[in-house]
Amino acid sequence: MENLLDKITRLEREHDHIDPELIERKRIKLGLRNIDGTGVVVGITTKGQVKAFKRDRHGKNVPIPGKLIYCGIDVEDIVAGVEREGRYGFEETVYLLLTGDLPSEKDLAIFNMEIGKRRTLPDVAKKILSFNSKNDDQMSALHSAVASLHKFDENPRSTDIREITRQCIDLIAKFPTIIAYNYRVADAKNGNPVDFIEPKPELSTAQNFLYMLHGEMPDEDVARAFDLCLILHAEHGGGNNSTFTVRTVSSSLTDTYMAISAGVASLAGHRHGGANESVMEMMDGIKKNVKDWDDEGEIRGYLEGLMDRKYGDKSGKIYGMGHAVYMITDPREPILKEKAKIFAEKTGRLDEFALYDRVGRLAPDVIKTKKGKTVCPNVDFYSGFIYDMMGIPRSLFTPIFAMSRVAGWAAHRTEEIMLGRLIRPSYISTMRKKVYYKPLKSREQS
Ligand SMILES: CC(C)(COP(=O)(O)OP(=O)(O)OC[C@H]1O[C@@H](n2cnc3c(N)ncnc32)[C@H](O)[C@@H]1OP(=O)(O)O)[C@@H](O)C(=O)NCCC(=O)NCCS
Repeated sequence: MENLLDKITRLEREHDHIDPELIERKRIKLGLRNIDGTGVVVGITTKGQVKAFKRDRHGKNVPIPGKLIYCGIDVEDIVAGVEREGRYGFEETVYLLLTGDLPSEKDLAIFNMEIGKRRTLPDVAKKILSFNSKNDDQMSALHSAVASLHKFDENPRSTDIREITRQCIDLIAKFPTIIAYNYRVADAKNGNPVDFIEPKPELSTAQNFLYMLHGEMPDEDVARAFDLCLILHAEHGGGNNSTFTVRTVSSSLTDTYMAISAGVASLAGHRHGGANESVMEMMDGIKKNVKDWDDEGEIRGYLEGLMDRKYGDKSGKIYGMGHAVYMITDPREPILKEKAKIFAEKTGRLDEFALYDRVGRLAPDVIKTKKGKTVCPNVDFYSGFIYDMMGIPRSLFTPIFAMSRVAGWAAHRTEEIMLGRLIRPSYISTMRKKVYYKPLKSREQS
């Protein structure tokens, strides 16, 4: 098989190569992107809006400081409102995304209770999670667990919106439990016991996750900051890869477990959900190799080396910088930066915070100089640092993103089903000549 596999791979490489000139000539919008890098408009949504440009009087798009809106409400207002009232806000964000309305006090209490009741996993599901795996990949573990939950649903294939909403709320409630338990299974390889701590119905999503992960009640400030991270990652319009994936598969009327696990699969990809982990690895390199953290010249030199593929993962990227839509600011970044500073003070890591701050100021200029591209620090720049200060392992950074974004996926799934049209774009074929089918005996032998 080894030799044949080499042959198949070689043939694939030859056959799959499409001439970039042909792509340009045929005006194919690869990655569903227009020539200027903006996304091709392929849908319409009431759920989330990412604003980064305004039209000037000549009809030209001019970049503006970024805004992220959930069902008409600026996410910065949600965060500020929840903080002002000293409450947890992820659950009401879920309610808002599903319904388009903020819940009344009474409805929020009922909704919290319903989510609280649904966090527990059936014993058989816990058994499935306990199976030993040859790797410790936490996104793969989440993906299989979500897909397997259809086993516990008597009506998984229903296309009734009420049933789908029930399934979605159930999954939103169970994601933190699955993620904490999967980690505990992986951690058992380090000699720690596989201890499935039962969720407490009276706790918020943020508190419950930290409780099930660490086995003790979290500090209130830590849980509140974690809740804020969940609010900020819950939704990002219909065009981001995982939400669009969920919308695409939902449009075929596949079931909720398959649709949401497809979202997890998309988010797991390195081009999508994993950037906060990459920021941490990049910062490890900076901390190790930059001798004087106050020396902006030395930091700049290292950042240039990253772009010249000399350092880090040699991808040429400065992680945590740039965004497919935002150019001037990513509205989530300053909120996280402020939290990072508070935690750095608390945990005695202000020197690291100052280094992040310097990198955040210098990197956009380095990228502008080398690529001519205007970028800003993005949501991933500080989020990993915050999770790290909370004692959360890196392998959980992307699953935590999923724990939050499942809210947006659920909201977009019901909306797509209500729209009721199968997503079915078109591909141009590059095949030129007709190839006749040869009988087996007359084919060339190798
Ligand atoms: C997010 C990202 C993919 C957006 O990409 P985009 O808008 O399609 O950017 P473009 O491809 O138009 O960028 C133009 C050029 O600037 C470069 N560039 C953009 N962001 C960069 C970064 N952070 N570091 C180095 N170069 C960068 C691109 O590589 C590209 O160079 P090329 O023309 O030689 O290929 C990109 O900014 C990136 O890779 N950032 C780092 C990873 C990251 O933090 N991702 C999380 C996003 S929330």
